[in-house]
Amino acid sequence: MNRNPVIPFIIIMVFGIGLMFLLSFKGLGDAKDLAKEKDGGAKTEESDSASASPEDIYKQNCISCHGNAYQGGVGPALKGVGDHLSVDEVKEVITNGRGAMPAGLVEEQNIDAMAKYIHGLK
Ligand code: HEC
Repeated sequence: MNRNPVIPFIIIMVFGIGLMFLLSFKGLGDAKDLAKEKDGGAKTEESDSASASPEDIYKQNCISCHGNAYQGGVGPALKGVGDHLSVDEVKEVITNGRGAMPAGLVEEQNIDAMAKYIHGLK
């Protein structure tokens, strides 16, 4: 029996290193899955914003001209706009623009809700 007593340790080491590589490759695969999940999550957020609330649309597209409190700026104040415009007229302005007001700021499926919301501002 003159087997080298170190050999079992070397075998264990080789297994250990092999296992390490295996796990780290698996880890890479998992990381890709996680990244995919993240992408998926971002997409659902996007589709949320496609039907965003009027407040959010206002913050994104209107605030720069109509003010953070609808008080007006470049554009006229939108508070009490319902006193002189009907919902349909507001819709018309949002859809087609008017004067210096650009058209097409609001996605079509959100225009109805947006017009009602703006019309109701007090
Ligand atoms: C680039 C600046 C600008 C942005 C951005 C803008 N507007 Fe305007 N808006 C104007 C101007 C200027 C007018 C006045 C147009 C005119 O004199 O005919 C106006 C007019 C209006 C009117 C009619 C007000 C009235 O009393 O007759 C409404 C309603 C309106 N905007 C809503 C919006 C909404 C909703 C958004 C965001 C989706 C928006 N606007 C974004 C500039 C802007």
